Amino acid sequence: MTDLRRALGEAVSGAFAAIDLPAEFGRVTASDRPDLADFQCNGAMAAAKAARKPPREIAIRVAEALKDNPYLAAVEIAGLGFINLRVSNAALANRANEISGDARAGAARVESPRRVVVDYGGPNVAKPMHVGHLRASIIGESIKRIFRFRGDEVLGDAHFGDWGFQMGLLIVAACDENPRWRAVAEETWKSDEKLLKAGEAQVAPVLLKDLDLAALDRLYPEAAAKAKIDDDYRDRARKATAELQAGRPGYMALWRHFVAVSRSALQREFEALGIEFDLWKGESDVDSLIAPMVEELRARGLLVFDQGAEVMFVARNDDKRELPPLIVISSEGSAMYGTTDLATILDRRRSFDPQLMLYCVDQRQADHFEQVFRAAVRAGYAAEDELEHIGFGTMNGTDGRPFKTREGGVLKLHDLITMARDKARDRLHEAGLGAELEPEEFEATAHKVGVAALKFADLQNFRGTSYVFDLDRFTSFEGKTGPYLLYQAVRIKSLLRRAAEEGAEPGQVLIAEPAERDLALVLDAFDNALAEAYDKRAPNFLAEHAFRLAQSFSKFYATCPVLGAEDESVRASRLRLAGTTLAQLETVLSLLGLETPERM
Ligand code: ARG
Repeated sequence: MTDLRRALGEAVSGAFAAIDLPAEFGRVTASDRPDLADFQCNGAMAAAKAARKPPREIAIRVAEALKDNPYLAAVEIAGLGFINLRVSNAALANRANEISGDARAGAARVESPRRVVVDYGGPNVAKPMHVGHLRASIIGESIKRIFRFRGDEVLGDAHFGDWGFQMGLLIVAACDENPRWRAVAEETWKSDEKLLKAGEAQVAPVLLKDLDLAALDRLYPEAAAKAKIDDDYRDRARKATAELQAGRPGYMALWRHFVAVSRSALQREFEALGIEFDLWKGESDVDSLIAPMVEELRARGLLVFDQGAEVMFVARNDDKRELPPLIVISSEGSAMYGTTDLATILDRRRSFDPQLMLYCVDQRQADHFEQVFRAAVRAGYAAEDELEHIGFGTMNGTDGRPFKTREGGVLKLHDLITMARDKARDRLHEAGLGAELEPEEFEATAHKVGVAALKFADLQNFRGTSYVFDLDRFTSFEGKTGPYLLYQAVRIKSLLRRAAEEGAEPGQVLIAEPAERDLALVLDAFDNALAEAYDKRAPNFLAEHAFRLAQSFSKFYATCPVLGAEDESVRASRLRLAGTTLAQLETVLSLLGLETPERM
């Protein structure tokens, strides 16, 4: 199955070849002037230079060679030598029928699937998730789905931040706060006869039972603030970090508890957002790989002593700006953030052997990834083209800085989801749905609408662009928003329900009206939008397609009566077009991570 753009590209390439010009001049794109043509080829301009002939003359000969092509209703030359192509209604109807019978809604698969890891989300133990993590989650989830849908074998990994300095901070803070928690860290409870009788396995959880999410949420910011001004405190936390990494049992017990509490809370939030990791690996999971890795790097002479630390040089002669070396072992002897990333590449290589690793992380970490990737290439853990940082901008407040709460703190993901759901509820009430839906369905719909608003507002921009948080606009049922798209899908669902009640059956697609032509052309364009989103790792191409499809359907629905069509075959055709539009729209929305309700 191939889309019209490619089919025409082959035909036009054949026409160039037929007049002894290179076939690659026959590339076809969607028309810049949809009022004049459906597709265009600009190759005559480039061919003119090569052939030393006027472009118009070449274009005329190409058009002649295309004269009898069954796909085409018209071939016209415009301007200097642009070849404008108008597809025949029969070819459009054929293609629409093909798409309507296709479980993939008209999108092709990659020819040779690859194994791909998408590293995204990147939440940390106890540190609240901020808008950077929100974007990483939304964009990463979509990229994961896009790659999987194209046919690659994909693993999405949360790469949980559960190792490193913040863990030492938490250990110190917990010990200072509560003697029972300290007893676990110091293992002093082991000298208590009564407790020991209760069995070692149960004691630690009992002593830690009130060290819950609320406690973690409070302890971490306090400790982080204190470490900034108190050298002594910071040194204790560093020491605790090193001892934890060395495997001190009481610290490990405390750490396991932090991780479990934090992780179950995070999993709830991700689930609410419809984000599903295949792997929930942490930085700590590669700890055992670090010592041998460092040993090996040392033996190969790749590590250099630099101010007490061991580093790997990654700068290159042609660098435009200076890239500092990657710190592998700090002067205190700890493994660093980059060390865990390097070991993780090794771990992925051994367990899954991916051909591509995509890191969907804030653009502000670009240098970090450049350092890690270069180090990995130097060490021979990966080839240069196997590692990619998929950076993105920030979600800003109206002040143009990364979005914060009114009090100036980072906005917690949980609160953001609540805000979006509340706004969605208001919108649904405004639309009069409060009375129409059962409370349970109303709540579920409000949730879907709220999440769709957040996700679509993010994904409709090219990921590198920053955007301004504006919940009023994001949740509007009109304009380029998530709720608008859900609403269009829901309208089609209700049309199809009515058709079923009336016993109307879909049939062969026939194309006659301009709005039908346009809808079929948009349906055909899905494959290209998907390929572009995939190649550029940029879901906004699909967001754009979803919007075009919804708008095109809206025009079709306004001008072409469906159930009201007099001719039975016209009604059957339009019903099939509506059903095909819904299937494709829901496919695209699910690639963006949006779920459509039944009613709204
Ligand atoms: N936990 C990190 C942070 O909050 C993000 C992790 C991104 N992934 C990675 N492989 N480094 O900044």
